[in-house]
Amino acid sequence: MRILLLTHSFNSLTQRLFAELRDDGHELSVEFDIADSVAEEAVARFAPDVIVAPFLKRAVPESIWRAHLTLIVHPGIVGDRGPSALDWAILNGEVAWGVTVLQAEAEMDAGPVWATREFAMRDAPKASLYRNEVTAGALDAVREALGHVADWRAGRWAPTALADWPNPRGQWRELIRQTDRRIDWLADSTATVLAKVRAADGFPGVADTLFGEPCHLFDAQPGTAPAGARPGEVVGRRDGALLRATTDGAVWIGHVKRAGSDHPFKLPATQAFADEVAQLPVIDADPEAAEIGYRESADGAVGFLRFDFTNGAMSTGQCQRLCEAIQAATARPTRVLVLEGGRDFWSNGIHLNVIEAAASPADESWANINAMNDVCLALIGLTGKLTVAAMRGNAGAGGCFLALAADCVWAREGVVMNPHYKNMGNLFGSEYWTYLLPRRVGEAVGRQIMTDRLPLLARKAAAIGLIDACFGATPDDFAHEVTARAQALASDPALATRLADKAARRAADEAERPLADYRADELSCMQRNFYGFDPSYHVARYHFVVKSPHSWTPRHLARHRDLGWVCPDAEEHAA
Ligand code: COA
Repeated sequence: MRILLLTHSFNSLTQRLFAELRDDGHELSVEFDIADSVAEEAVARFAPDVIVAPFLKRAVPESIWRAHLTLIVHPGIVGDRGPSALDWAILNGEVAWGVTVLQAEAEMDAGPVWATREFAMRDAPKASLYRNEVTAGALDAVREALGHVADWRAGRWAPTALADWPNPRGQWRELIRQTDRRIDWLADSTATVLAKVRAADGFPGVADTLFGEPCHLFDAQPGTAPAGARPGEVVGRRDGALLRATTDGAVWIGHVKRAGSDHPFKLPATQAFADEVAQLPVIDADPEAAEIGYRESADGAVGFLRFDFTNGAMSTGQCQRLCEAIQAATARPTRVLVLEGGRDFWSNGIHLNVIEAAASPADESWANINAMNDVCLALIGLTGKLTVAAMRGNAGAGGCFLALAADCVWAREGVVMNPHYKNMGNLFGSEYWTYLLPRRVGEAVGRQIMTDRLPLLARKAAAIGLIDACFGATPDDFAHEVTARAQALASDPALATRLADKAARRAADEAERPLADYRADELSCMQRNFYGFDPSYHVARYHFVVKSPHSWTPRHLARHRDLGWVCPDAEEHAA
């Protein structure tokens, strides 16, 4: 079928649908929901069999849904309507939630139901539930709905009107307001504060004050308050986060946005309030809330290093800390080192927000890419053990190439990779990609991946040899299988030979062309991106960080806008 994705942006759910439905054999094109006339033009050009709207912030124009089958993905259970579905589900403590595919009609989210899925809720930020449970459910439900289209056209199947749905649990809920989210630090427990921040993560955050300054809070984790801490008091810091006491404990606040400041976008809390936090004690408790953590298997053969950097963004300081952690893990008497990245993102490369806030974004970009390269180098040069990149979550740009620096690259099913840089203002990229990419897929495929600039399913990445394996339907399944496979590698009698081969190959590669050469060439292009006449990278980064609304759909997504594209049977396709 010809499917037009009409969406507010090419977000993670839309990327996953795009890649999966293309893989199912459908012809896909994307139009951002910018204006009615633009959407109408896209529909006229592409003449889709069906329009799927995975992520909209406003109603589909009547001119479109009346004439064309339009399916809306709503992140709520049947009957739930309104623009704050997941926010309310978290705040109301729902134990099960869902995602529903319904046909667009005049009343928003009230059209007949084509398919729905339910899932158990998890104590997690809204964005994490969206990227995992909602996305998986939406994909299943959209596939089921698409399976009905032919029968619906032939009059053999009909969706269920909401009025006919037996006892729908959902109901209309208003747009959530900041007053609904407000934290009362003198009354709210840790659990309540966590629910409020998580229901607002990563947008719009909870409006609050810190050090007397208005700001929005994001990225909260439970913490332990030092004795005598008063509720609401900021009592310590660690890495980028602040520890704030509640009535029965404390929470770590990882990120804040200071609206009236010079940098009105999300930043690590200690950076946004750099002057104010200088005197706060550094607190090392709560290892599970720390960004970097290391553990070993019971037999000591396998080390597991996780680096759970919010949004997968890795600042200069975070890269340096990760490098130290890799060095410490290297010194351990393990045989295999598994790099676990974060739960939601493996890595998305250099930290664009921190760069944007720097006194010299060009200098900070330079420092950050060098620190990122040092992490890659530490892995490429680690010849005494086998290294595994176990991608639990999505990866983008330099984060993808960081994974390729490991000997084995495994990803969870459903992971989406964006192994290219050009979307960020034509960035050339570094992370030794010119060494790591061709040796896995060859020059031609490597070039195509970099220029297509499209999301790549981990399953596909494994099929073309970019990564080694893709398995594990759920995060738990993936974790179990990673452990089993890593243990098997560590106890394989051929391990010593494998390590000798690895060292020999590294030495041969180094003799053919030193890694320092690859790095120097990549960085000379990056230097032009950062310091040259063409400001594209700085402009793109600014718009990415402040989340400027899109004013057009990029050509590589809006296939119907290709100059040579001719709709073969445009007239047949109006519903
Ligand atoms: N630096 C800072 N923040 C980043 C980031 C980065 N490198 N990559 C992603 N983020 C943030 C986004 O701003 C967003 O923030 P939010 O919490 O305010 O929503 C969040 O991570 C999720 O990103 P989003 O773009 O919504 O996720 P996605 O799954 O839809 O798209 C990518 C994933 C990787 C395609 C997209 O995030 C991206 O292009 N990131 C930039 C990658 C890059 O160019 N890195 C620099 C070169 S190495």
